[in-house]
Amino acid sequence: MQIKYVDLNKDYNFNKKKLLKIIDKTLSTGEWVGGKEINLFEKNIAAYTKSKFAVALNSGTDALTLSLHLLGVKRGDEVITTPNSFIASTAAIVHLGAVPVFVDVLDDQNINPDLVKAKITKKTKAIMPVHLTGRMSNMIEIMKIAKEFNLKVVEDAAQAIGSKLCNKHAGTYGDFGCFSAHPLKNLNAMGDSGYLVTSSLKYAVRAKKLINHGMKKRGIVEEFGYVSRMDNLQAAILNFKLKDLNKIIRIRRNNAKLYNQFLNKDYVQTPNNDQKYFDTYHTYVIKVDKRDSLKKYLEKKGISTSIHYPTPIHLQPAAHKLNLKLGDFPNTEKQSKRILTLPINQYLKKKELLYISNMINKFYE
Ligand SMILES: Cc1ncc(COP(=O)(O)O)c(C=O)c1O
Repeated sequence: MQIKYVDLNKDYNFNKKKLLKIIDKTLSTGEWVGGKEINLFEKNIAAYTKSKFAVALNSGTDALTLSLHLLGVKRGDEVITTPNSFIASTAAIVHLGAVPVFVDVLDDQNINPDLVKAKITKKTKAIMPVHLTGRMSNMIEIMKIAKEFNLKVVEDAAQAIGSKLCNKHAGTYGDFGCFSAHPLKNLNAMGDSGYLVTSSLKYAVRAKKLINHGMKKRGIVEEFGYVSRMDNLQAAILNFKLKDLNKIIRIRRNNAKLYNQFLNKDYVQTPNNDQKYFDTYHTYVIKVDKRDSLKKYLEKKGISTSIHYPTPIHLQPAAHKLNLKLGDFPNTEKQSKRILTLPINQYLKKKELLYISNMINKFYE
């Protein structure tokens, strides 16, 4: 059996005819930059996440940068976040001249709220929790701290469209929710795309202006902006794909349930389960001893896996100037050696999940 970790060909072929029709129809309108599909996507996402406003963007990274910009984060400010994210969350902070201040994580790989207060200084402007794997951070506790210390909150929900905590959507607890629609995400465009949600009309209006060079209307530039618009074509694709999102989430949750049944818990730590959290399994991450040997063994058995992320951000060469070292964030560092991401996409069959699980169990037994 050959099981790919990512199979975008399958994703394309599943809806090929319909997608080609949508692409043709959208391009034929002549609306390539800007267009009706974008406005519709913003309405659709706001309705889906039960937020007031959504802004369509060209990436999740730009959603993060723009949110921090709108909150007035600037040179010298500090933003609290985690060191075990995709590099983009920290990069967005750095690009605004601010300093990322890391807080270690819990067993579910998300920010440990108990460690946040100790990191707050006079310079702290915002907290950026990351909802890694499609499991939300403990936003109840994060919002309590933010309120107490008058801090802004930007949720990195890049991996968490549709995830909930106490029935409330990822991205709707903080001032901004930032999402990626990169091809590997549960709601995926056919290229780079992203979006943000907010309950503030003021921020939404200014965001729409900033992503279009800061232009109020053609010829009038009110402030220097960015080029962060979503293409009309990607918006049309996302409007179509959004209709299937709940089904995709249901299948991924069921795949996770099957892994939880099949994997031998004597050797494999499966993801945390908690009734308060509705997890969408952008990734399914197990924790194991001898991770690297297991990865190689699975490769030989035709199973490709991944690691999110093998090097914590504070240990990346790019973070050299932050003067952080091995030992500063023990949970993150320990997890980076033990985590392994198994294939969980919606096209996997039960027999494939069973095969993967059996191979893992066999490796240890
Ligand atoms: C946690 C996290 N933050 C931010 C991003 C950035 O999103 P994008 O690739 O759309 O810029 C990603 C994308 O993988 C991510 O996983």
